[in-house]
Amino acid sequence: MIEGKHMEAVLQVKNITKTFTISRKQQIINRNKEKIKDAVDGLSFSAYDGEIYGLLGSNGAGKTTTLRMIATLIAPEAGSIQVCGWDVKKDANEVRKCVGFLTSELKLEEFFTPSYLFDFYSDLHQIPKDVQATRKEFLFNKFGIKDFQEIKVGELSTGMKQKASLAISMAHDPHVIVFDEPTNGLDVLTAKVVTDFLLDLKKQGKCIIVSTHIFSLIEKVCDRVGIIIDGKMVQDLPIHEMCQVKSLEDVFFDLYASKVGEVL
Ligand SMILES: Nc1ncnc2c1ncn2[C@@H]1O[C@H](COP(=O)(O)OP(=O)(O)OP(=O)(O)O)[C@@H](O)[C@H]1O
Ligand SMILES: [Mg+2]
Repeated sequence: MIEGKHMEAVLQVKNITKTFTISRKQQIINRNKEKIKDAVDGLSFSAYDGEIYGLLGSNGAGKTTTLRMIATLIAPEAGSIQVCGWDVKKDANEVRKCVGFLTSELKLEEFFTPSYLFDFYSDLHQIPKDVQATRKEFLFNKFGIKDFQEIKVGELSTGMKQKASLAISMAHDPHVIVFDEPTNGLDVLTAKVVTDFLLDLKKQGKCIIVSTHIFSLIEKVCDRVGIIIDGKMVQDLPIHEMCQVKSLEDVFFDLYASKVGEVL
């Protein structure tokens, strides 16, 4: 595991903030009249090469919003994010070259085949054709989708669609991999393929950020953990330090009780 304090962090998130305006309809669903939601509220953390950093938080904690800001899909209102030395606001195109945003919720265009979409995405990133072919072969084999690569996405099973979207998100061989809820909705066999893949990426020296609310996933793969409650980072430690005295689950619930207690 890399403690990394002496190295430059490849991902540096500093004091980022994001608020959303809540529609009237959403206010009714939320049973809350608040018009503004502080989804991410002054959040900071760093991640290093060769490590898997886990963002742990309950539903609505701000995990996806944070990852979307790292991947340049939305911009932070305040604070800054640097990826591989590039700033997400000033150098968004450079950031996109070195970040892969993987999510089990990515919906692929159903009319096209995984093979076509992989090539399309690789072309967007201007990956040379020979490199594209080698990477496609490798990733499609890895995720067991080689035999399905010429079948339209709309005709694939849910798991197969998810695996295809993961392979396609990795087409440009990103250095920093941001993975929102990596095993959500996957069966145990597919989830294992994905967790083994994360460990492989780590071995290659990449920097991986995963968001999850699943304690066992964090315990299995993560070197460091950041616990997010209500858009704020409330603890950020190497996992062995965080769990020296208590289990991760106990650490989380104790922090949660103390923070919610503060609010009440
Ligand atoms: N586009 C949006 N418009 C309005 N509110 C939003 C939007 N995106 C997120 N939110 C709100 O911001 C908060 C944080 O959402 P986010 O999706 O980041 O949480 P999360 O930690 O990923 O949760 P989950 O575990 O459910 O995926 C939530 O209250 C959510 O309802
Ligand atoms: Mg989410």
